[in-house]
Amino acid sequence: MAVPTAHITAKKEEIAKTVLMPGDPKRSAFIAKNYLENPVLVNDVRGVQGYTGTYKGKPVTVMASGMGQPSIGIYSYELFKFYDVDAIIRVGSCGSFHPDLHVRDIVIAMGACTNGSFANQFGMPGTFAPIADFDLVRRAAELCEAKGVNYKVGNIFSSDMFYNAAGTDIEWAKMGVLGVEMESAALYCNAAWTGKKALCICTVSDNFLCPEENATVEERQNSFTDMMEVALGLV
Ligand code: HPA
Repeated sequence: MAVPTAHITAKKEEIAKTVLMPGDPKRSAFIAKNYLENPVLVNDVRGVQGYTGTYKGKPVTVMASGMGQPSIGIYSYELFKFYDVDAIIRVGSCGSFHPDLHVRDIVIAMGACTNGSFANQFGMPGTFAPIADFDLVRRAAELCEAKGVNYKVGNIFSSDMFYNAAGTDIEWAKMGVLGVEMESAALYCNAAWTGKKALCICTVSDNFLCPEENATVEERQNSFTDMMEVALGLV
């Protein structure tokens, strides 16, 4: 398939080699407007806003993924495969299963478990373990250290359900999984399939162990800002 693709109308040269990928299109606009120099809207198909500009002089695109593995599966595949993107860094939110991970803390998802079937398409004769790019993990951890934010590196659970009738998400904590979101496993599979790099960084937005824990709107905004600065530091 040539560009433009089924879901992205940008010209090839309008997409940078590194893409930051929040789930929410409004957040991609926020990042572009607050951090990028000379941001230009390069995609708006289905309102999935993509902006390209520079950060401290380095080209970067910020484009939303939408929610869930099918959605990030589409955008990450088209960017890796048809736009020659080298690295996608998801900047998302997650629920925490871990006693030391509270609302506003950061999870660096080294690996991603899932209850979804995204990886079945690759026909592996066993269970594929979706993992992040090690260099991106290491550098993200260093940036979190330098910022002094509370963070953990480990496994995340990419669920296909936000509302899970079985209520089994928390079972993953028994295997040391840190929290739940809905996209990383598919992103890591597509990076592996196309020979590219990916990382997911999440800010904890809700706490399964302490549901009454909450943050003010301002605190949440600031913590997302920490995560965005860590991700931009990787560009
Ligand atoms: N479940 C799934 N995805 C999420 C959650 C959650 O509790 N919080 C943020 N993303």
